[in-house]
Amino acid sequence: MLRFEHFNLLHSDALPTAIPAAKVKDYYYACMQAHEAIQADRHANILGFYDLPESDLRPIEDFVASIDPRFDTLVVLGIGGSALGNRALYCALKTEQELPRRLFVFDNVDPVFLHEILAQIDLDTTLFNIITKSGTTAETMAGYMILADLIRKRFPADYTRRLIITTDREKGFLRQVIKNEGYPSFVVPDNVGGRFSVLTDVGLLSSAFAGINIRELLSGAASMRGRCENLDTLANPAYLNGLLHYLYMREGKNISVMMPYSNSLYDLADWYRQLWAESLGKRHDVKGREVLVGQTPVKALGTTDQHSQVQLYTEGPNDKVFTFLTVENFAHDFTIPNLHPDRGEVSYLGGRKLSELLNAERLATEIALTQAHRPNCNLVFPALDEFHLGEFIMMYEIQTVFTGKLLHIDPLNQPGVEAGKIATYALMGKAGFDKEREEIRQYLDRRKQQS
Ligand code: PA5
Repeated sequence: MLRFEHFNLLHSDALPTAIPAAKVKDYYYACMQAHEAIQADRHANILGFYDLPESDLRPIEDFVASIDPRFDTLVVLGIGGSALGNRALYCALKTEQELPRRLFVFDNVDPVFLHEILAQIDLDTTLFNIITKSGTTAETMAGYMILADLIRKRFPADYTRRLIITTDREKGFLRQVIKNEGYPSFVVPDNVGGRFSVLTDVGLLSSAFAGINIRELLSGAASMRGRCENLDTLANPAYLNGLLHYLYMREGKNISVMMPYSNSLYDLADWYRQLWAESLGKRHDVKGREVLVGQTPVKALGTTDQHSQVQLYTEGPNDKVFTFLTVENFAHDFTIPNLHPDRGEVSYLGGRKLSELLNAERLATEIALTQAHRPNCNLVFPALDEFHLGEFIMMYEIQTVFTGKLLHIDPLNQPGVEAGKIATYALMGKAGFDKEREEIRQYLDRRKQQS
C-alpha cells in the first residue's frame, strides 16, 4: 500500500509553521461541498476515470496476445494526456521488471527527435499507436501522416496491421480513417478527459504490449479509490493532500515541487505536472469571475537536483510545497565496495547499499527543508510495481478534481490550451480560421513596426 507521510505538511513539533490539524477540521464543510460536487459530477457521468478499475480488459489482452511475437517495439504518437501516462508507466517499470518489449513515445514535432526514434527502431518489427481523443491535434496528425506514409510505402501489402489508432468512439477525422482503411482501433471514452485517461485504452494498450500487468494497475487504482471514499479528510489521502495544497496555495505557496528519489519515477512526476497544471491553472471560476488560480508544478530528481535546486529550495523564497517520492525496495541494487578502508573521506560508504545512500539523502533533504520551515511530505512506494503505480494515479486524479472543487474552478477543461491550438491552425493555413489568421497578421505587423 502506498504510504503517505504528511507530518511536515501538518503542524508538528518539527515544523511549527505548518498547517495546524485543527484547520483541516475547520474546512469540514468546504470538504463536504467539494465531495458532493464530485458525487454530482460522477452522477452526471463526467468523471469516468473513477469507474475505470471495472473496465473490461479482454479486448486489449486479446489484441496483444494476437500480435505476432516478432513485433518487439511500439511507437506511440500522441501529446499531453495522450502520451505522458504511457511514458510514465513504461519508464517506471522498464528496468525494474526488465520489460520484454520496447516503447517509444513521440510527443513533439521536433524533427530531430523523430529522426532519433527512427534511428533506434527496426520498421520490420515495430508497431505504431496513434493516440488522440479529439482526432485533430496538429502535432499528432503531422506525426500520423509521416509515419502512416512511411509504412504504407514500405509494407503495401499489410500496412494496416502495423498501425493502431486510439481515438473517440465515433467522432473525429481518425474514426473516419479507421472505417476507410481498416486499421485496428481502440477508444478514448467520452467521459474521461485527456490528462485523466492513462488507465483507459490510451495507457493500457502500450503498457500491455510492453509487458506491464494492467490488471494489477487497475487493482491498485481500485484500492486507492476505496481509501479515497473516506469522508474523514484526515484519513482520505487524496482529500487531505488536496486540502493541504489548497491551504498552502492560499498562503502564497504557489509552486508544488515533486521530487522522486528514483530515476524510474521521473516521468511520473511529468505526468503529475500536466495533471496539476492544466487542471488547476484557470483564469475564471465556475461562475465566470476572474480568479487567476493554480499552483505551478515543478519536477526535480533526487539526488541529482540536490546539487542544482536544493540551495534555492532551502534558502530561496518560501513559496513551495514539496512532495518526495521514495522507493523502499529496488529490484536492482549495488553494494559499495570498501575500496579505501583507511580513508575516512570514503570508508563510511564501504559496505553500504546504493539504495541506502539514496534514501538517506532523501531523508537528509527532508530534514534540511524542515529546518528551513519548508512544508514537505513523502509518498512511499514499498516497491516499484503496477499496484502502487495504479494507486498513485488514482490518488492524484481524485486529489486534482477535489482541489479544483475547493478552488471553485472547472478542473476538466483547458481553454488556454485550446487558444494555442487555434492559433496554430491559423498559422498553418487550416480552413475556417481566416479571422484568427487576420488577427495574427495584424499582431505580426505591430511586432515588426516596434522592433
Ligand atoms: O488533457 C488534455 O485534454 C490535453 O492535454 C490533451 O490530452 C492534449 O491536448 C492532446 O489532445 P488529443 O488527445 O485530443 O490529441
